[in-house]
Amino acid sequence: MARVIAISNQKGGAGKTTTAVNLGARLAKFHKKRTLLMDMDPQAHCTLWSGINPGSFSVSIYHIITQNLPLKQCLIEAGENLFLAPADARLSRLRAQDVRLMKSPFLLTREEADSYDFTIIDCPPAMGLPTLFALASASELIIPVQTQFLALERTIELIKNLRVLRQKFNRRLRLGGIVCTMYDPRTNISREVVGRLQRLFGDKVFKTIIHRDVRLEECPAHRKSIFEYSPNSNAAKQYEEFTEEVLKSG
Ligand SMILES: Nc1ncnc2c1ncn2[C@@H]1O[C@H](COP(=O)(O)OP(=O)(O)OP(=O)(O)O)[C@@H](O)[C@H]1O
Ligand SMILES: [Mg+2]
Repeated sequence: MARVIAISNQKGGAGKTTTAVNLGARLAKFHKKRTLLMDMDPQAHCTLWSGINPGSFSVSIYHIITQNLPLKQCLIEAGENLFLAPADARLSRLRAQDVRLMKSPFLLTREEADSYDFTIIDCPPAMGLPTLFALASASELIIPVQTQFLALERTIELIKNLRVLRQKFNRRLRLGGIVCTMYDPRTNISREVVGRLQRLFGDKVFKTIIHRDVRLEECPAHRKSIFEYSPNSNAAKQYEEFTEEVLKSG
């Protein structure tokens, strides 16, 4: 069964895009899974990271939604087994009236989803229409949480909202898990945040913890995943282990 994973957290800079891009790259290249990376953020970080310049394509995910086009019209091949549904700033223009014209509130049809093993949706840091589309279309939600002060409240809020989202418009949406990011073992706050998440959400917290690593900060500028940019780094090992956990949790 095809898996559609929304990577979301209303908090900015939580590691959503870093997680989406590296999970997508690992699944596609190393596990040979046919993977679709969907950029639902007007900031277009996922698109830029994939080496695609906003402005270099005429059909984006915004047009798919507002003009009821088949998803394949916007897809760009981004690597072996890897496809990108690009975004640009126009996505921020999405309004409720655009949505009313749509035949369905899903970003992709069941057939479209089934033509990939994994669809990974990178969400913006807000609970606006792009995120709602992603959550309506997903089979699971992965929440990256930066292990820092003030990171937790939004996560707890999102998980509380999940019940309502499920009731209102997507019964099959399940919590795939919470992934701790930017962990710094030297700080008490990192340890406290992980401990609190584990106490609150138990085995819904992925065992793999992504540590703070400057190489993860550098690789988007090189348009490379961590596996290409620094394959022997701890960060590559951690995203590799995280991907294994995601595969096992399906
Ligand atoms: N484990 C890490 N170690 C060091 N830097 C990281 C790590 N993960 C992400 N970063 C950097 O932190 C910043 C925020 O990460 P990222 O863009 O993945 O977050 P985001 O949740 O997608 O942000 P936004 O809410 O703006 O979409 C980026 O500059 C990224 O390169
Ligand atoms: Mg992002």
